[in-house]
Amino acid sequence: MSFSENTRIGELLNEQGYLRDKQKQAIRWGIIGLGGIAKQMAEAIRGTKGSELYAVASKSVDRARTFTDNVDVQKVYGSYEELVDDPDVDVIYIANLHTQHFETAKLALMGGKAVLCEKPLTVNAKQAEELISIAQRNNVFFMEAMWMKFNPILTKLKEIISEGSIGQVLKIEADFSVVFPPDSNRRMPEFAGGALLDLGIYPITFAKWIVGRLPDTIHSKCILTSTGVDGLDSVTFEWQTGESAELSFGMDRIGTLSAKIIGTDGYIEVSPPFHGAERISVHHSQEVKEFHMPFRVNGYEYEVEEVMRCLDRSLKESPIMPLKETLETMKLMDGLRSEWGIVYPGE
Ligand SMILES: NC(=O)c1ccc[n+]([C@@H]2O[C@H](COP(=O)([O-])OP(=O)(O)OC[C@H]3O[C@@H](n4cnc5c(N)ncnc54)[C@H](OP(=O)(O)O)[C@@H]3O)[C@@H](O)[C@H]2O)c1
Repeated sequence: MSFSENTRIGELLNEQGYLRDKQKQAIRWGIIGLGGIAKQMAEAIRGTKGSELYAVASKSVDRARTFTDNVDVQKVYGSYEELVDDPDVDVIYIANLHTQHFETAKLALMGGKAVLCEKPLTVNAKQAEELISIAQRNNVFFMEAMWMKFNPILTKLKEIISEGSIGQVLKIEADFSVVFPPDSNRRMPEFAGGALLDLGIYPITFAKWIVGRLPDTIHSKCILTSTGVDGLDSVTFEWQTGESAELSFGMDRIGTLSAKIIGTDGYIEVSPPFHGAERISVHHSQEVKEFHMPFRVNGYEYEVEEVMRCLDRSLKESPIMPLKETLETMKLMDGLRSEWGIVYPGE
C-alpha cells in the first residue's frame, strides 16, 4: 500500500475528519436535482469544515422553493445551465435520476466543472465510458458518489481483514432489499428503474471491494416486475482464489440489509444497512469484538471530504473510488441485464 493510500485511510479513520488548511478558501458546491438524496448531501456539505453549499439548481421552481425553505444558499437557479455557467461554483454534485446523469454530467464536465455524480454514474457502460473520456479531455475531477467506500467503519473492516484477523476470506453475504411503492419512479423502465441499478450496485461494489477484484464466475436469477424491470435479484460471485459471494437485492420484499464476511478463522457482521453502517462485530471462537464509529453528520460527509482532498491535491479522480472501478461495475451490471433481457428505452 502506498504512503498516500495510508494517509487517506488514516484521514478516514480520524474522528476529526479531513484537516484542511484553514487558510484555504472554502470549496463552493453546487447541487443539481433537488430531491431526496440532495437534502442529505446538503446537510453533509454544510456540516463539513472547508465546504460551502453555494448554489442549487432544479428544473422545478416548486422543488427549488421547498428545498431552499430549509437550506440557506447564495444562488438558486431554475436551469442546470445557469449553475454550470456560474464561475464561483467549484464542484457540482449531480443528484437527479439515473437517466438524467449522462446529459447533466456531460454539460457540467464540458463546462469545465469538477463533478461528483450520484450512483449509478450512468444507465450503462457506454455512457460511462463517454463521460470518462469527456472528463479526461477537459482535465477535470470526476467521481461516482459511492459513499459506502468512504465509510469509516467499512474502512476499518477492510483493515481488519487485511491484517488477517479472520484468516482467508471464504464467503461474503450481503442483502439490500426494500419495498418501493407501485408508482415509484424506481420501478419505471423510462427512468432506468429496477433493483440492480438502484440497490444491487451496493452489494456488488461491496463484494468486489472485499476481494479486491472482479469475480471470475457469475450466476444470477431475476424476477421481473409487472413494469418490466428487475424486482427481485440474486447473484453469486466466485473467484478462482476460493472466495464466493451470495448477494440479494430487490424492491418487492423487506430484507436484512446486512452483510457478513466469513473467513477461515472467524467472521464479521456488518450492521444494517451495511452500506451505511456504523457498527461491525468481529467473531472468533472465544470472543466477539464490537466496533462503533458513529457518523459526524449523516454518513455522506466522508465523500464530501474525499472530493475536497482530491481538489486540494489537484487529482482528477479519487484513488479510493477510481473511474476504472465505476466502469467495471457498470460493465458487470450491463452483463447481468443482458442475461435478464432488460433493455431500457433508448438503449
Ligand atoms: N447515495 C445514496 O444513498 C442515494 C440514495 C438515494 C438515491 N440515490 C441516487 O440519487 C439519484 C436521485 O435519487 P433521489 O431519490 O434523490 O430521486 P428523487 O428525489 O426522486 O428525484 C431527484 C431529482 O430527479 C429529478 N426528477 C425526479 N422525478 C422526475 C420526473 N418524474 N421527471 C423529471 N425529473 C425528475 C428532479 O430533478 P429537478 O429537481 O432538477 O427537477 C428531482 O429533484 C438517483 O440516481 C439515485 O440512484 C443515492
